[in-house]
Amino acid sequence: MGFVHAQAWQAIPEAQLVGLVDTDPNLLKTLGESIGVSGFPNLDTALREVDVDIIDICLPTHLHREAAEAALAAGKHVICEKPLALSLKDARAIIDAAAAAKKQILVGHVLRFFRVYQKARQLVLDHTLGQIGTIKTFRGGSYPKGWHDWYGDPAKSGTLATDLLIHDFDFLMWCFGPVERVYAKSLAGHITGAADHVLASLRFKSGPIAHVEGTWAYPKGFSYAFEIAGADGLIHFDSADKGPIHTLLRSGSERNASVEVPESPVEISPYQAELAHFLEVITHDALPVVTAEDGYNALAVSLAVRDSIQSGEPVLLPGRTGGES
Ligand SMILES: NC(=O)c1ccc[n+]([C@@H]2O[C@H](COP(=O)([O-])OP(=O)(O)OC[C@H]3O[C@@H](n4cnc5c(N)ncnc54)[C@H](O)[C@@H]3O)[C@@H](O)[C@H]2O)c1
Repeated sequence: MGFVHAQAWQAIPEAQLVGLVDTDPNLLKTLGESIGVSGFPNLDTALREVDVDIIDICLPTHLHREAAEAALAAGKHVICEKPLALSLKDARAIIDAAAAAKKQILVGHVLRFFRVYQKARQLVLDHTLGQIGTIKTFRGGSYPKGWHDWYGDPAKSGTLATDLLIHDFDFLMWCFGPVERVYAKSLAGHITGAADHVLASLRFKSGPIAHVEGTWAYPKGFSYAFEIAGADGLIHFDSADKGPIHTLLRSGSERNASVEVPESPVEISPYQAELAHFLEVITHDALPVVTAEDGYNALAVSLAVRDSIQSGEPVLLPGRTGGES
């Protein structure tokens, strides 16, 4: 992800990428040379040696809090890849550190910068589909083999719900507001080792229910999909089809008529759009499209899903969003 962000920064004319930090000297050398910027073995050295406005954290998740607090204490704005942290306590500590430093923080809930997800939300908000009843989302592919297999350690990645499905939790709350209750099942490593598969049901306070499916157990590839159904029609999208959002609408007395509305494909990388947005935010002291509280709330849902998987029981959210476990 650090490489993806580095490429995205380089595509933004108003930004200047000045350094990379990684503990792996070989990676730092090859990446630094290919990108043409200096490499630093740790964040402290980088903070001492280069004067920057933003630290963009793409570390394994268990390292987010320490890096975010160091960057904020040094007076830098912070972009932090999702999930913001692994516990609500750590997430709150990062948010408090940003407030104390009077610096901005953007959590990498990048679906908010995918045109296809933006378009879907617009169709929901402008009532094209009528009152929304149900939503289905899918996200996943093969198991990610990260640095020292950190994705396979729940203490480092927080498991599939916190690492991967958190994208969909954030998107769904962006569209439908707070989640009231979750119930979830998982393979939990029974069949495929760390390569988990999760099925989660979410009920929103605003009424709709969502079925959120995610996997790290496919043989290869990565894809994402959604279907949103309302009283007046439904939309569906599957990245594997490489097609538009399909829209089927009921219309007038012909309740079964359908209309397909094509949507143009993504033009610039959503990661570039996300980083460029943050540049605007810090330049104009504006509110980011994804606030740190959004990152906190998405984490809260993912932890409730984890708890439901572990207990086999539904989990209510209101108690959790107030508490800091
Ligand atoms: N938004 C997205 O679409 C998306 C996609 C994938 C990953 N992510 C998130 O991005 C983050 C990074 O994931 P990844 O897949 O790129 O991980 P990765 O394992 O591929 O890379 C992690 C890098 O961190 C380096 N590293 C480890 N400890 C370090 C330390 N103390 N200081 C400096 N460098 C250190 C490693 O050498 C490695 O190069 C995670 O939080 C993950 O959840 C987001």
